[in-house]
Amino acid sequence: MDPEYIQKLNQTICQCQRCPLGKTRTKAVPGEGSLEAKVMCIGEAPGASEDKEGRPFCGRAGGVLDEMLALAGLTRQEIFIGNILKCRPPDNRNPHDEEIALCTPYLDAQIEYIKPKVICCLGNFSTGYIMRKFGLAAKVQGITKIHGNIFITTSPYGKIKIMPIFHPAVVTYDINKKPVLANDFRILKNIPK
Ligand code: URA
Repeated sequence: MDPEYIQKLNQTICQCQRCPLGKTRTKAVPGEGSLEAKVMCIGEAPGASEDKEGRPFCGRAGGVLDEMLALAGLTRQEIFIGNILKCRPPDNRNPHDEEIALCTPYLDAQIEYIKPKVICCLGNFSTGYIMRKFGLAAKVQGITKIHGNIFITTSPYGKIKIMPIFHPAVVTYDINKKPVLANDFRILKNIPK
């Protein structure tokens, strides 16, 4: 463990100009939480609040995430929360493929350092990237189909469980999804970590 490695990585992320989002962001959002986390939650990209504060999930979707983490018996301090993209896409549009390709080496480095036992993929972009990364390309389907499933696979540092979950923002525009999301986080609570 060398926490300086992560400090340096965060500095690099905060100064990054690899893609055009470097020009339009206010603050980059490297991610935060425990560097010894057993659970990582990976979202899509910063929104307006995150872009302003430089912290992941600090806006409305973050409020939902906090509620859900409580159902899973987890705190922000003990997990690590990150994103596929570290900078906000203008108007919260979907990440472009080239942005994902240029930005995900940062996420890969975070995963390699933290070595989580469980990765919760919040939404389609996160699910697609993480499942492909860990050799589960053939099992990738839309989040509506595969949310709540647990995919056990191997990583270079041992067994890892991947769980796709709806993105918490879904609740902010479809309240009927809240029980579904809650149920997935209760499943997360019972996964051995
Ligand atoms: N949505 C995300 O995917 N990530 C954040 O950090 C905030 C909202």
